Amino acid sequence: MVIDLRQVPAVENDPGESRCDVPLPPSYSPPVESASAPDRGATVEYGAYLAGHMAHCIECHSPMGPQGPMTDTHTVASGFEFHGPWGTVISPNFSSAEDGVAEYSDEDVKAMITQGLRPDGERMSPPMPYANYARMAEEDLDAVIAYLRQLPPLPDGAGLE
Ligand code: HEC
Repeated sequence: MVIDLRQVPAVENDPGESRCDVPLPPSYSPPVESASAPDRGATVEYGAYLAGHMAHCIECHSPMGPQGPMTDTHTVASGFEFHGPWGTVISPNFSSAEDGVAEYSDEDVKAMITQGLRPDGERMSPPMPYANYARMAEEDLDAVIAYLRQLPPLPDGAGLE
């Protein structure tokens, strides 16, 4: 059954102040009070911020290692396997390698990010969340593309076997 949350009647509820009864490990860092973002613009720096912290492109497009996605050493070099009702899908290489972002024009990349539409007209499979990016601003897309194009060209999975 699909529930449209906007149709659920509003309820007045005061759940009280939240508290955590589980002792936190000593390594738990102090609460984050503020976080800085680079200035908005079609720059590599802002693109890195969007592709990393905001849109999680890097997390899904980097291979999974024993410690989690290998985002620093194998940035967007493909190889993360997703298993689901769609079968098994592997995130493609999107470094500046020849079979990565280099083979596409900016317009092609934008259509893939915002519509999940490959240049050959094929629609992408989940979990590529292109619907979430459908309304990304042109300038933000330019920033992500500028960032991707200057990444080192890595082989698929960056040679992981
Ligand atoms: C939840 C994981 C996930 C996230 C987040 C994600 N992707 Fe993907 N992406 C995938 C998967 C899986 C595919 C492969 C889909 C398929 O094979 O049909 C894909 C495919 C693509 C493709 C097609 C590339 C090709 O050569 O076929 C592009 C371009 C792309 N993603 C860019 C991005 C960008 C840019 C972002 C961030 C704005 C992003 N993705 C975020 C999982 C993800």
